[in-house]
Amino acid sequence: MKIMICGKGGSGKSTVSLLIAKVLAKKYKTYLIDSDESNVLLPKMLGVNPPKPLVEYLGGKKSIFPKGEVNIVNALAKAGKGIMLDKLPEEYVSTSPEGIRLITIGKVRNFGEGCACPLNFLTRTLLKNLMLNENEMVLVDTDAGIEHVGRGVEEGCDAILAVVDPTAEALMLAKVLKDTFESLHKNFWIILNKATPKITELIEKKAKEMGLKIDGKIGFHEEIFASCLEGKELNASEAILDTAAILKSLNII
Ligand SMILES: Nc1ncnc2c1ncn2[C@@H]1O[C@H](COP(=O)(O)OP(=O)(O)O)[C@@H](O)[C@H]1O
Ligand SMILES: [Mg+2]
Repeated sequence: MKIMICGKGGSGKSTVSLLIAKVLAKKYKTYLIDSDESNVLLPKMLGVNPPKPLVEYLGGKKSIFPKGEVNIVNALAKAGKGIMLDKLPEEYVSTSPEGIRLITIGKVRNFGEGCACPLNFLTRTLLKNLMLNENEMVLVDTDAGIEHVGRGVEEGCDAILAVVDPTAEALMLAKVLKDTFESLHKNFWIILNKATPKITELIEKKAKEMGLKIDGKIGFHEEIFASCLEGKELNASEAILDTAAILKSLNII
């Protein structure tokens, strides 16, 4: 299964992606694809060195559009049957002790280097042509907001999981995502993240009024906040239990 984690900036997409990866890795060969072109904390949160960006394997950002989809697939596929992540050279995959395999698409870092469109195109091509072995799961941690939707990055995904923090903006974005992906017949789930019990009641009411169903909740955990602030490995034992319960209720595990 390929699941894309979407939502408002700061809602907790990277945190929730990692929590899900930690649960899935107990049962599946789990890949976490970092497709956010700006934020760089994910390797630290996972406790690994950053892998070499995949865009470099293909000759850098400037070569992506000239190459086009067919040449990108040929370069990544090797066997010619579609892209298999387990065939990537090891410097492009950082594996954590618990077995989570992190792949990074690429980052924008230099003034005037151009937009992130080639990176979005690479993510889209990768997901669309990705063949999974039976025991493999793929999670894609996205950049904030909705640009990836406009670029059709989700085309190759089986499910979209929207992370909502307790804000009106997050709910409004979730509504747009729901309407978009239900019309494309993709699984669509919402996880409420970072809500205290009192706020949970309020946001559930608001979500209902908007026709949104909250499929799972992860509370605000100070240890998560503190470990991210210090740039340390994610400390989240309680939230992992919440996440496992959510994945069970969604029939993912
Ligand atoms: N359940 C949670 N409890 C406490 N803090 C959280 C939780 N989820 C995320 N955070 C914090 O919120 C901030 C944004 O999280 P992050 O996962 O980077 O969001 P995004 O990837 O959506 O931008 C980080 O400081 C992170 O530690
Ligand atoms: Mg993030």
